Amino acid sequence: MEIKVAKNAGFCFGVKRAVELVNKLSSEGKPVYTYGEIIHNESVVKELESKGVKVVNDLDELRNLEKGTLVIRSHGIPKADYDKLSELGTKYEDATCPFVKKIHKLAREYSEDPNNKIVIIGSKHHPEVIGIRGWCLTEPVIFETVEEVLNYSENSDKKHIILAQTTFNLNKFQDIVEIFEKKRYYSIVLNTICNATSARQTETEKLAGEADAMIVVGGKHSSNTQKLYNICIKKCVDTYYIQTPDDLDIRKLRLFRCVGITAGASTPNNIIEEVRTRMAEMSFEEMLEESLKTTRHN
Ligand code: F3S
Repeated sequence: MEIKVAKNAGFCFGVKRAVELVNKLSSEGKPVYTYGEIIHNESVVKELESKGVKVVNDLDELRNLEKGTLVIRSHGIPKADYDKLSELGTKYEDATCPFVKKIHKLAREYSEDPNNKIVIIGSKHHPEVIGIRGWCLTEPVIFETVEEVLNYSENSDKKHIILAQTTFNLNKFQDIVEIFEKKRYYSIVLNTICNATSARQTETEKLAGEADAMIVVGGKHSSNTQKLYNICIKKCVDTYYIQTPDDLDIRKLRLFRCVGITAGASTPNNIIEEVRTRMAEMSFEEMLEESLKTTRHN
């Protein structure tokens, strides 16, 4: 069996930076909190918890906690949350990815002009989108699907400023932009999809086209991993979404000649490596069985 691992699989620069920051702070022995789970990956979150890092889901919880450092994750937060942190006097370290920060700046600046309407292409409930929305001075419109955009109508002559969630599917983004063009809305398109994301998606699509089966590794709540799964399943019906190496269904995977492995931005390298190792071990055992059969026949 041939095993191909996508080169762009796993931690992106922004996630790596955030996780390293939490690890560094926790090694200093003072209380460390993260605002929401630092990444959408259960095993990483559990490991950090075992080092004493606590997840805070509401900033008001900080009022009753021992003083420490709060880490803002790579997804970023709304402006109002920074104001709240100042009000609470909380010490914090900001691991918002610089690419996300850039979108906050664009959303703020473009929304200062009352003739502009900010359009965010992304998942409404994703923390990154909630953060971007929180930097707009006027209420933005948020679209996730082509259907939503088809049903949208705007009668004013406002200029649409189109921004994207950094991990949005590039092809889908282009389809949505095309609808805006067809509707003849005056639009400025700012493709804010992160390079790491588009490179991972493009490579995954190619790999899924070549492999007989695909393994997508990532947290079940990781939206960028879900997007990778959707890309794969279109090209390769035998696509398996797993969170940890223990989820591998070795019996099924034995049947394939070439298996591709990809992983979301919040999947640590050691998990990807473990998946590769287990697949390689399985392939080796198979080879051994085959050679034993041949020997017996001879
Ligand atoms: Fe940043 Fe791109 Fe990762 S926006 S958090 S480097 S996916």
